[in-house]
Amino acid sequence: MVTKKKTKFFKSLRFRILVILLILGIVPSAIVTQLMISNYEKQAIEVKVSEVSTQCAILCNQIIKENYLNDSSSQSVNSKLELLSNVYGGRMVIVDRDLKVVADTYHVDEGRTLISPKVVKCFKNGEVTNYRRYGQMLEMAVPVKSADVPQIQGAMLVNISISDIMATVGEQEQMAMLLTGIIVALSVLLAYGLSTILVKPLASVTKSIEDLTDGYQKDEISVPDYTETELITDAFNKMLARMKVLDESRSEFVSNVSHELKTPMTSMKVLADSLVGQEGVPEELYQEFMRDITAEIDRENRIITDLLTLVKMDKKSADLQISHMDINQLLEDILKRLRPIADKRNIDLILDSFRPVEADVDELKFTSAISNLVENAIKYNVDDGWVRVSLDADHKFFYVTVADSGMGIPEDSIDRIFERFYRVDKSHSREIGGTGLGLAITRSTIAMHHGVIKVFSREGEGTTFSVRVPLSYIP
Ligand SMILES: Nc1ncnc2c1ncn2[C@@H]1O[C@H](COP(=O)(O)OP(=O)(O)O)[C@@H](O)[C@H]1O
Ligand SMILES: [Mg+2]
Repeated sequence: MVTKKKTKFFKSLRFRILVILLILGIVPSAIVTQLMISNYEKQAIEVKVSEVSTQCAILCNQIIKENYLNDSSSQSVNSKLELLSNVYGGRMVIVDRDLKVVADTYHVDEGRTLISPKVVKCFKNGEVTNYRRYGQMLEMAVPVKSADVPQIQGAMLVNISISDIMATVGEQEQMAMLLTGIIVALSVLLAYGLSTILVKPLASVTKSIEDLTDGYQKDEISVPDYTETELITDAFNKMLARMKVLDESRSEFVSNVSHELKTPMTSMKVLADSLVGQEGVPEELYQEFMRDITAEIDRENRIITDLLTLVKMDKKSADLQISHMDINQLLEDILKRLRPIADKRNIDLILDSFRPVEADVDELKFTSAISNLVENAIKYNVDDGWVRVSLDADHKFFYVTVADSGMGIPEDSIDRIFERFYRVDKSHSREIGGTGLGLAITRSTIAMHHGVIKVFSREGEGTTFSVRVPLSYIP
């Protein structure tokens, strides 16, 4: 079943590429075109201003020469004024020193007094240019003065149209808009193409994984088209392999459990059947079979208890009941409890304590872990042998070793003895009565205490288990 999730476009790679391309395309081009347009505008206006200034300077000379400020009847000045205002499509006004309008090409303000801040400024500072964009007009005030008299004698107010410049600017702005539009369109196309190229490997990996989960026929996925996809698929395959191993070990565990639980049942069934099937069974045989059945029930019980212990351990170390314990005392108690079993086979049980040791452990769990080791050392020993338990510590750890003079463990089994249900010699171990779970429990317990356990063994000579656990428990 292929689950097609609703694609979130705004979170997609495609969308992000589009945004990046748009920013990369639009921002620089907008800046460049705006700069170019405003540069053009400035230059065009400057050209116009200098042109008008030159014309005004010539006119000013004539005005002074012909004393136009006092007598505005000069035909040549008036016609020049008309000509200029026609050429520049604007209005020209001349005022004298008293701000009285001497000439106005629009003929509306003649004779009046013109109080305009521009003119006032002009009398103070010289030429004033005021550029008004929305009116598409350029306003200038030019002082009228002669070379001999330093004082400004009058002013010329020029109002000229710059609509031709603004029209060109408008055209350029339209071009810029068009350019932006083209860039946006190109960005969208490019983003689509680029994201298709970039997303394709991811899509093929996704598809491979989906195929695998749908069918489960193949063991691994493979998308060798790109280096990146190979890396992803390699990592994925590794994870898959791990999951497989876990899966296998789980099913092996389940089948082991079933098998182990069935064995005592089968024995009981055989024993019970043989009693039921016979008539007039002697009392002694009854008793003997019943004893055997009880033994099998005990065994079944032990397996179930061990299994429950193991399963509880899998639920993490949260439920450790840590307390500060005297480890010497703890080991002494273990040996005292197991001594009767050792005595039965005349096995020497020795404790070597090198120093007093106190440490943080879970009393019950740690005791059962070490008991398992000592029990094994007794069980898999030879008659009249020995078991030596030693305790030592440094400033960080304490060390417990359990050495025996027993049968030892074959080299090819040594890596497996900590596995659940693993026993070197199934029939012999059964005779001895183990469940095969003891070492698995021990190792889990030691690991929960953040310790390590190691084993050294030589077949026929003996085995040594050594345990190292931190003195203080840090959760
Ligand atoms: N001290 C030892 N000497 C020899 N063999 C051992 C020793 N301890 C453990 N083994 C081997 O490791 C196996 C697993 O041990 P364990 O998990 O305690 O299971 P069990 O004791 O129930 O058989 C044992 O069956 C035995 O074959
Ligand atoms: Mg055991």
